[in-house]
Amino acid sequence: MEITNLVNFAPMRIDILTILPELLTGPFSNSIMKRAQEKGHLELQLHNIRDYATNKQKSVDDYQYGGGAGMVMSIEPIAAIIDKLKTERAYDEIIYMTPDGDLLEQGECNDLSLKGNIMILCGHYKGVDERIREHYITKEMSIGSYVLSGGELGAAVLVDSVVRLIPGVLNDETSALTDSFQDGLLSPPVYTRPPEFNGWEVPKILLSGDFGKIEKWREEKAIERTEERRPDLLEE
Ligand code: ADE
Repeated sequence: MEITNLVNFAPMRIDILTILPELLTGPFSNSIMKRAQEKGHLELQLHNIRDYATNKQKSVDDYQYGGGAGMVMSIEPIAAIIDKLKTERAYDEIIYMTPDGDLLEQGECNDLSLKGNIMILCGHYKGVDERIREHYITKEMSIGSYVLSGGELGAAVLVDSVVRLIPGVLNDETSALTDSFQDGLLSPPVYTRPPEFNGWEVPKILLSGDFGKIEKWREEKAIERTEERRPDLLEE
């Protein structure tokens, strides 16, 4: 695995190619994504594909060859942005968000969080001209077995899940090490004050101060929950 980001201590650079940049400004200007940029861990650029359309109508899609319902995103504007960005820096991955891509899993997020430069292309309509996928895309990702109106929300999910793992983005309190999936298990239940509400009590062991026992209880609960909800994780 190439660990460019750790070695250089440079911010991770993510370029997102979209026809709807407005859809992405919200998710990236709040909370942890905002802090990651302010703290210099992340440099995020949104590129409007329409700005690279050269025809009079500024169209970015066209009818599909062979007929059939649904438009296809044209190759020229997308190729123009990718070619331009590639002259500015080398990209570790050029990712296409698509429902027929590899299902996003925590392991992939971990790997991507160690990269230096990532480009993400958001699809729309019937998808992009296949030649983009063949000649430019290095990875195709899906965030689940359902179809979204476009790749933007998928890109937001991917970026969020990756950026929170960049060393230094989260503080100890929000450490990613104890997240569900990091050890192949779902997380155990958590509680905070008050110790009793409506007669519903916090498990006594969590108030005991015996951290050895608490750790063991958490491990048991994590296994129990994984067996109940995601037995497939245990088989892996
Ligand atoms: N675009 C449309 N549906 C998608 C999905 N499930 N994952 C990623 N990108 C998509």
